[in-house]
Amino acid sequence: MSDNIEMSTDNWSASLDLNKTLVEYGDFVAATAIVKGANPHACTYRFTWMLEGGGEGGTSGEPNGEFQYGFAPPHEGKFLITCDITGPDGQTVTASRWMTCGDTDEFTRPPLPSPDAETVVSVDDVSMVFNIASEQFNSLKEYFIALMRHELKFKEFRALDHISFEVKRGEAFGLVGTNGSGKSTMLKIIAGVLDASSGSCRVAGTIAPLIELGAGFDMELTAKENIYLNGALLGYRKEFIDEHFQDIVEFAELQNFMEMPLKNYSSGMVARIAFAIATITEPDILIVDETLSVGDFLFQKKCERRIKELVSADNVTVLLVSHSIDLVERICDRVCWIEKGKQRMLGPTDEVCEAYKNLGK
Ligand SMILES: Nc1ncnc2c1ncn2[C@@H]1O[C@H](COP(=O)(O)OP(=O)(O)OP(=O)(O)O)[C@@H](O)[C@H]1O
Ligand SMILES: [Mg+2]
Repeated sequence: MSDNIEMSTDNWSASLDLNKTLVEYGDFVAATAIVKGANPHACTYRFTWMLEGGGEGGTSGEPNGEFQYGFAPPHEGKFLITCDITGPDGQTVTASRWMTCGDTDEFTRPPLPSPDAETVVSVDDVSMVFNIASEQFNSLKEYFIALMRHELKFKEFRALDHISFEVKRGEAFGLVGTNGSGKSTMLKIIAGVLDASSGSCRVAGTIAPLIELGAGFDMELTAKENIYLNGALLGYRKEFIDEHFQDIVEFAELQNFMEMPLKNYSSGMVARIAFAIATITEPDILIVDETLSVGDFLFQKKCERRIKELVSADNVTVLLVSHSIDLVERICDRVCWIEKGKQRMLGPTDEVCEAYKNLGK
């Protein structure tokens, strides 16, 4: 159920898919090798597993035609599952994925990235200036008269002022700041919804943005129709959504409400649908802007678990905006504090959150 890095020869490519990347002890993981550009039945597969740091490992045996492998972790820990795939042309491709076995509450946030890790989001000296009308007009007529006379005056409002940071692959990166500080504006620029007034923002990979509640939904349509609409906006094919429809509905726990127009949904129910669609696969970058806060505590817990699962899958990058500092502290490795449009602090979560919590004391 995940998109992942494809390793390729000149003619064909392969990747490894895990049905889960976070399991509890006693559970097992199904690993599937996916071959593109060559006949999968004409390939041979050899799976191996290794404990993080080495020292322990095993194999599925001699290379054979089985492209699926069930791995039951022998104990808690982080494991690398690898598959060597030899194609009909004799060339071998190696694809691997990390998975974690352990109590999900024992999630540890990602370590600080090394400087040479791949950059997936690069925000370079970004400023955002909004023009806001400086006068109030009582009627459209007055507005047009002012417009014709070139008397419309705008005030410039600087929502973001020279912001720079980089996010590396696999990081969980937090943005904090008081109301109106520019966090959502920053996320919209990263998601490509807004263009920065100056500076540049580069992003590598697919993004699943959860920024504004209800964005990408048509309130007149039913929930079911909206799942297809929103899925299409995220770039999923109809067949793909058909395949995952039940998973989405189950995750959102809204089985009995699929034929109801979205305008009759509560905001928490909309958030459930939006989160379920956005995280049904592993996007390269998941952007979560406070969307979860309208969900009830059970759903918030479920979303947190899913975000942790994505963070544990090494190649997913998460950008999280939340006023719940606890949540940021539990999940994120680094945090950027933006205050009234200005970058106050950028660094490891504990340091930045500590300073932020002292605001107003
Ligand atoms: N389209 C717009 N036109 C004019 N001003 C805007 C626009 N969008 C945002 N702003 C202003 O930019 C500032 C930053 O807004 P933004 O929504 O990014 O803040 P935020 O940090 O996400 O706040 P919150 O914590 O309340 O969600 C606010 O003062 C807001 O009024
Ligand atoms: Mg916001």
